Amino acid sequence: MWGLSRHLTDEQIEGLATYYAQQQPSPNVLAAPGSIADGRSVFESGVPDKNIPACATCHGALGKGNEQFPRLAGQHADYLVKQLLVFQRTDERPEGAIMKVIAHDLTQANIAAVTSYLQGLPDN
Ligand code: HEC
Repeated sequence: MWGLSRHLTDEQIEGLATYYAQQQPSPNVLAAPGSIADGRSVFESGVPDKNIPACATCHGALGKGNEQFPRLAGQHADYLVKQLLVFQRTDERPEGAIMKVIAHDLTQANIAAVTSYLQGLPDN
């Protein structure tokens, strides 16, 4: 987090704080675990109706990542949800251009499901 936040100006931090303060809580995403089977489907097949590619294409069949793409397997679902919302709603991850496009049309249910699935994958 520090690696990310040290690049933020006071003004950007203020803007983000205002942004988040204005958001309605979305308990569905953060509290309710998504369906693991749906999550696996998003991870392995994407959401073809919306042209969302399979996450496994870049992050690896088991989500282990590689030199280019970060590991997702075994990361906490709440962390993954937050990162997906950062990609979807902000420009605060400057290396996240690809993910911004991919996250754009994910629904809250997609996000809850895929992050629940990922959290359950082995982290080694
Ligand atoms: C075309 C390649 C590609 C695909 C497909 C892809 N990603 Fe990513 N993903 C990336 C890259 C590159 C990053 C690193 C971005 C950065 O450094 O900010 C990333 C980062 C992430 C992160 C942040 C990880 C962290 O440790 O902070 C999450 C969460 C994530 N992706 C989830 C997904 C999900 C869920 C899908 C499928 C719906 C998906 N990705 C599909 C390329 C991809």
